[in-house]
Amino acid sequence: MANIRPTLRKATSLLRYLNSPHRAHSTSVSADELSHFSSLASSWWDPMGPSRVLHLMNPLRHDFIASCLFDSLPPPRASAPDTSTPVNNLRYLDVGCGGGIFAESLARTIPTTANSPSQTVTQAASITAIDPTSALIKIARDHARTDPKVEAHLRDGKFTYKNCTLEDVVASLRETPEDEKFDIVTLFEVIEHVDSNAASSPLAFLTNCLRVLRPGGWLVGSTIARTLPSFLVNQVIAEAPWPIGVVPKGTHEWSKFVNPDELHAWAQEGLMRSQDGAALRAGGDALQGMRWKCSGVMYFPGIGWKLVPGSENWGNYFWAIRKGL
Ligand SMILES: C[S@@+](CC[C@H](N)C(=O)[O-])C[C@H]1O[C@@H](n2cnc3c(N)ncnc32)[C@H](O)[C@@H]1O
Repeated sequence: MANIRPTLRKATSLLRYLNSPHRAHSTSVSADELSHFSSLASSWWDPMGPSRVLHLMNPLRHDFIASCLFDSLPPPRASAPDTSTPVNNLRYLDVGCGGGIFAESLARTIPTTANSPSQTVTQAASITAIDPTSALIKIARDHARTDPKVEAHLRDGKFTYKNCTLEDVVASLRETPEDEKFDIVTLFEVIEHVDSNAASSPLAFLTNCLRVLRPGGWLVGSTIARTLPSFLVNQVIAEAPWPIGVVPKGTHEWSKFVNPDELHAWAQEGLMRSQDGAALRAGGDALQGMRWKCSGVMYFPGIGWKLVPGSENWGNYFWAIRKGL
């Protein structure tokens, strides 16, 4: 009986997915990934559980975004009110938000109306967080409601969870002017879960992330390089049985890991492909003003995850793409 449970779970999530409204323009989501992540939902917020690595990595995500904004800020929107006081004014989209570890921490930095205007390092005014795994969105919403400040943002619309795919967001923004799209799109530990097949590829997925980003905005993410050291660390050691392993077996497929040079090339290709609207620039022009940032990250016991520039090919790394103006 125990042996057929995973198969039943897979079949149930596939059926739920096939019946869901997302399917209409969804191609990047695999039933195996949905099934795997659904099974992790109940333990998502346990800091010592299977999502421990994501909890530990979270503070560095804020720092890395802050470093991108320090390099270059998205320009003010044409529709933005003039203000002499620095305020949080950036609109975020978190793609593949899971149970909300990053999204909720970012929502906590959005000023409430009761606050005097203040500016945080990530300058968030709002965040929309999406994930195709319905069980994770439920866990994320339930957890967000336990903090009154975050719950207030769920109610005032500055913080939104949606059980939908990236393809749904692309479709919903098709008629939206470029200037009204998201200032920052985040993609933490997701691209290595996107299938490569006739209907889906990480390049197409990255291109869609760039399509929903404003000119001058940043796409910021993290992933894992497909190298021998990362195979040993992320697959052999990290997925070993307890007490050595830190993530459940089957979390990663080494062949889906992405090397920094591949990602950089996809970023360039994606920028050229994302500029496919009638009045938009095409080809090499789309790369003008593009910026690429990339740094390896390593975990130091007792200290946490730190940027270690030059270690990108060893395993985990953070990256960012700025869409040119
Ligand atoms: C390792 S978790 C990362 C969660 C979250 N970004 C974090 O770092 O805390 C990967 C997430 O990607 C989502 N995912 C898998 N395939 C996806 C796809 N094709 N599009 C969007 N999200 C996807 C899963 O549902 C899961 O929540």
